Amino acid sequence: MTPDLVVRGGTVVTDGWSGAADVVVAGGRVQALVEPGSVRGPDELDATGRVVVPGGVDPHCHVGFTSGDFTSLDDHRECTTAAVAGGTTTIVDFAIPRPGEAPADAAVRQRAKADQGLCDSALHASVVEWDGTTAEQLRQLCDEGLRTVKMFTTYRGESMADEDTFLRVMKTLGPLGGMVVAHCEANHLIEEQQAVQAAAGRISAAHHHETRTELAEDASVAEVLAIAEALGTPVYFVHQSTAAAVDQVATARRRGVRAYTEAVAHHLTLDDSAYRGEHPERFVCCPPLRSAATVAELGTRLVSGTIATVGSDHCCYDTAQKTSVDHDVRVMPNGLPGVETRLVVVQDAFVATGRMPWTRFVEVTAAAPARLNGLYPRKGSLLPGSDADIAVWDPAAQRTVTAAGLHQATDYTPYEGRTVTGWPTTVVVGGHVVVDGGRVVDDTARGRHLPAAPLTV
Ligand code: URP
Ligand code: ZN
Ligand code: ZN
Ligand code: ZN
Repeated sequence: MTPDLVVRGGTVVTDGWSGAADVVVAGGRVQALVEPGSVRGPDELDATGRVVVPGGVDPHCHVGFTSGDFTSLDDHRECTTAAVAGGTTTIVDFAIPRPGEAPADAAVRQRAKADQGLCDSALHASVVEWDGTTAEQLRQLCDEGLRTVKMFTTYRGESMADEDTFLRVMKTLGPLGGMVVAHCEANHLIEEQQAVQAAAGRISAAHHHETRTELAEDASVAEVLAIAEALGTPVYFVHQSTAAAVDQVATARRRGVRAYTEAVAHHLTLDDSAYRGEHPERFVCCPPLRSAATVAELGTRLVSGTIATVGSDHCCYDTAQKTSVDHDVRVMPNGLPGVETRLVVVQDAFVATGRMPWTRFVEVTAAAPARLNGLYPRKGSLLPGSDADIAVWDPAAQRTVTAAGLHQATDYTPYEGRTVTGWPTTVVVGGHVVVDGGRVVDDTARGRHLPAAPLTV
């Protein structure tokens, strides 16, 4: 096939290989990685001095998510515009049932939005309550390519599932090549602590981190890990924020349990001093930001290879939504905007500082999220045959993060004023240049829903 585009002169970093190469694109796919200058194309991108990586795969992204009285503010178009501007070319969204809604209906509702996107997206299904139809719904969802199922041990009355439901879902999913994706915080410990704090008049946003302890996260991880171990099914722990939680997973893996840790960018790059700042409400998320010491321990585990993936847990509320109930964290909208900043803050903190090589950055932000979501090697790779989703990074670019300079559908970023080194200046989606010179230059909606293959993890 005649090439459509050649990305030339850069240092290619992909899963399992890095070096000087030109990326030849044809028909929306990577056709070959070739000797620099050996193939010419009708369109060429000069990547001299740049690092050329697979577009990021964000395994944890809430789009238009309703919880309690609040709905996060973006749709697929807005979320994926922000994603591509930040070097991410695939998002994995969630179909979380509203109270009383069937998992299959939630999936239909959320999947219908995929074609509004500037890039492709996949979807996690979700189960809250088990009934006589759930097993069949799960079989059908897996047939349709939804094989990862999000479950929560917290948020009573919204999305919390009990241990029996965890067990039944895991038992059903195992033989189907599926996996539970677990948010673990022991709800009874949190509610008890919230009651104590409320009685002491310490329940506002500034005290959020005191109400959701590390102990509550660690206890819940132990419970869910035990179910997975007993059944022999894989489990993926989202947004693990404590060293002890990550270490439980690592220890279980050494026993042969198929368990995986996701960290999220804000737990790796922000700490609980934010709750003592001017806008504590802007940092209310679950699990909360942890102490600087815990953040350092988490970073060590990212660098060492213990953490499998880095997601964003993007959840795009604005300041007005946050402040409307910031006197009481029990009713606040939880979550931080982050799909656009996930890669830049992690690259800046770990790669630009020399703590982690680009190869590991690509592994945790693109290749492993693709593998763990049944999307690899179509996504998360630049090896021949992969979709031509490519991010060209200027590793020396210095940029100060501001809400005004981002595309997320909110009025704030948790990183306001942070100067980072390294930015994705050109981003290609399916062979089309959608970001150039750091600006979104093509906002055509080409997004497709990606069915997941059976997981082999
Ligand atoms: O605070 C968070 N993380 N909000 C989004 C929903 C979730 O728990 O992942
Ligand atoms: Zn969560
Ligand atoms: Zn404020
Ligand atoms: Zn989340």
